[in-house]
Amino acid sequence: PDQYRVFGNPIEHSRSPDIHHIFANKSQQSINYQKQLVEIDGFSNAIAKFIHQGGKGANITVPFKEQALTLADELTERATLAGAVNTLTFKNGKIFGDNTDGEGLVQDLITNQVILNESRVLLLGAGGAARGVLLPLLAQNPRSIVIANRTVSKADKICQHFADNRISASSYIDLAKQDFDLIINATSASLSGDLPPIPTSIISQNVVCYDMVYGKDETPFLKWAKEHGAMKVVDGLGMLVGQAAVSFEVWRGVTPEVQPVIDKLRASLK
Ligand code: ATR
Repeated sequence: PDQYRVFGNPIEHSRSPDIHHIFANKSQQSINYQKQLVEIDGFSNAIAKFIHQGGKGANITVPFKEQALTLADELTERATLAGAVNTLTFKNGKIFGDNTDGEGLVQDLITNQVILNESRVLLLGAGGAARGVLLPLLAQNPRSIVIANRTVSKADKICQHFADNRISASSYIDLAKQDFDLIINATSASLSGDLPPIPTSIISQNVVCYDMVYGKDETPFLKWAKEHGAMKVVDGLGMLVGQAAVSFEVWRGVTPEVQPVIDKLRASLK
């Protein structure tokens, strides 16, 4: 079987090997996918060694996505604009870098019947996770995307980088006067059980709230959004499976079915 791997630190809890093996079984593809813990200063060596062993592709996770970008010989536009790579392909002696996170998010939003065309999107956070999803979101023709961040200068910087008049930056306080159809939490606040300082006035019965984080318990953001009357809340499990599916497609040319995998992972969280 062709060899694939996910590299990160930490890596113990990665579900990627399970996800890719299910995709492969269902689509009659012969692959072997393992996870590998990489020392903080050992990333490029680990990749070189894997290529030498005949590895066909790799997923890259925290904290190596920016390093993976510099390692690639060729990049897709979505990886360049994201400033990060989560998918490497080793072919013809070259390293190809891609980023499937944003497409994974968009596909999961579509699966959840969230309308993106002409919608007013609020993106919370201005770190790697936020930046990584902007180009695929823009491709869905939203009316506007407001990036809110505690450190507004970081949101401003992303706006300058994308130079698209649909994107603007905001402080959290200034959100109170605005209306949104979709709010995406791309901050890492949920990971530490925190809630970004969002004004409650922006939650209405017409708004969908999405958290890129998922877990056994509902995230603080989604719990808060529900309590304040949001129309619908969705966590990031589908995005995780979605980005894996797009990586699988990049490597194998086959589009795997995501729903059975999402259901299986959901059941295992309980
Ligand atoms: P990632 O790769 O997950 O995006 P990151 O680049 O470290 O991680 O960015 C973390 C993001 O979460 C930032 O936008 C950060 O806001 P600041 O830039 O103002 O620090 C945001 N963040 C983290 N904890 C937060 C909290 N408790 N409330 C609001 N925003 C938070």
